[in-house]
Amino acid sequence: MKTIAVLTSGGDAPGMNAAVRAVVRTACENGIRVLGVVRGYNGLINGDFVEMDLRSVSDIINRGGTILYSARSTEFATEEGMRKAIRTCREYGIEGVVVIGGDGSFRGARDLSERGIPCVGIPGTIDNDIACCDYTIGYDTCLNTIMEMVDRIRDTSESHDRCSVIEVMGRHAGYLALNSGIACGATAILIPEVDFDIEKHVIERMKKTQRTDKKHFIIVVAEGVGVDVKKLAEEIQAKTGVESRATVLGHTQRGGYPTAKDRIMATRMGNYAVKLLMKDIGNRVVAAQKEEVLDFDIFEALNMKKSIDMELYNVAHEVSI
Ligand code: F6P
Repeated sequence: MKTIAVLTSGGDAPGMNAAVRAVVRTACENGIRVLGVVRGYNGLINGDFVEMDLRSVSDIINRGGTILYSARSTEFATEEGMRKAIRTCREYGIEGVVVIGGDGSFRGARDLSERGIPCVGIPGTIDNDIACCDYTIGYDTCLNTIMEMVDRIRDTSESHDRCSVIEVMGRHAGYLALNSGIACGATAILIPEVDFDIEKHVIERMKKTQRTDKKHFIIVVAEGVGVDVKKLAEEIQAKTGVESRATVLGHTQRGGYPTAKDRIMATRMGNYAVKLLMKDIGNRVVAAQKEEVLDFDIFEALNMKKSIDMELYNVAHEVSI
């Protein structure tokens, strides 16, 4: 393989830059030319490339976001868009593509691979919702960011004997909510994977702890459950008498410098992805399981199901009382 491309797609995640750096450096060290694709699959369609070399990825290992920019391309989802992308790859001599992103990005990588452009996916999303991986790039940083912000909210919540209802990201997944809830000692955690009843899981739990003299509360709600946290705070105040406030952490969760874990795993995965392409192996997703880096067929990876660890969920609720 003489020329490969690397792109970041979907929601950006801290550590994506570390993965781009590892891809570029591994390729350059092995005599492969690398084109950085600007703004995800849109860049692949339009030929929006930057020539990458060893120095073009200097000083990015510590930076959040993605220097290649990211997008969710609607054009690439069409047959015409896909054809244009393939034409561009042929025109620029691109023989393999590393795609850093989530499930949606991997579907594009699978389709390109099926049409003769070998692609390797690297899981990059704060949601940690990729079935073949127990960890995705950005998740660790995001979790720590949430923890830090909830700790800050806790200081003021405690000072006023209040209840803080906090919405965290996770479009369809509760991993961020469950684990940040544990790390911050939330009295209740609402996630999309587990059915809940506000009365039983929030109000009654709060009343029970009130009887043990607890006066301030943290309730963590995953974005994916679709609960309006402001309304929930009002309901809590009305039913428990505890003054309540709602906070939506929003996009502050997605930025910031990546943790050591995200930098290390992103570096290992970026290196691994190029090694696959060097062996002419495409249509694979690089995965992390129990700190090991391995790979799966993209089609199989997309059909896997990921479930929430119910033991962890139960521990959270047994301890935070
Ligand atoms: O997939 C990552 C994620 O941050 C989700 O948690 C969230 O629902 C979504 O992206 C937000 O996307 P956008 O930045 O397009 O609003």
